[in-house]
Amino acid sequence: MVLRTFALVVVIAVASGASGVAGQATAPQREPDVIFVPTPADVVDAMLKLAKVTSSDVVYDLGSGDGRIPIAAAKTYGARGVGIDIDPERVREATGNARSNGVADKVTFRTEDLFTADISPATVVTLYLLEPLNLKLVPKLMKELKPGTRIVSHAFDMGDWKPQQKQTVSGRPIYLWTIPQASQRR
Ligand SMILES: C[S@@+](CC[C@H](N)C(=O)[O-])C[C@H]1O[C@@H](n2cnc3c(N)ncnc32)[C@H](O)[C@@H]1O
Repeated sequence: MVLRTFALVVVIAVASGASGVAGQATAPQREPDVIFVPTPADVVDAMLKLAKVTSSDVVYDLGSGDGRIPIAAAKTYGARGVGIDIDPERVREATGNARSNGVADKVTFRTEDLFTADISPATVVTLYLLEPLNLKLVPKLMKELKPGTRIVSHAFDMGDWKPQQKQTVSGRPIYLWTIPQASQRR
């Protein structure tokens, strides 16, 4: 009996130790390139409309913050969503938001650096970063994304790579590009 009680205490101690570690906020693997500032809901809606998201799409938000863009894509259009954020605290928050919005089966969030993450399954990529980060990202987008993948950026453009469309929503510009055939890539 004493032995059984001791074993139980050990099991609980190990389990609670493990969950404590999992539940703790760990620091990002490196300093984020840009801090978390959320895209307003009306701008999120306009970005997904501009990209013509449907239930067949896989929407990647690079620097996904609280997860609002992939979550809206799943809730409104039935799309699958993936969010990549370097900050584990944001990933934890976004994962909880997916759950409370009832789309945890459609949306996943990963703690990764957007510059090294595998983004090849995306059919739509959303961005709210900074112009220098968009410019740094262009070679990766061109190399890894399939022809026809749409990219929508809130606030920042891509320098020489001119957008197909630009709209202004609540005073904020949003831009659309489509990945060209391999033979036409820069
Ligand atoms: C301006 S917020 C945009 C959040 C969300 N996409 C939105 O539009 O509401 C940028 C996010 O990018 C993340 N971030 C910054 N540098 C990153 C990197 N190198 N890799 C992945 N995420 C990064 C930040 O932690 C932050 O959550």
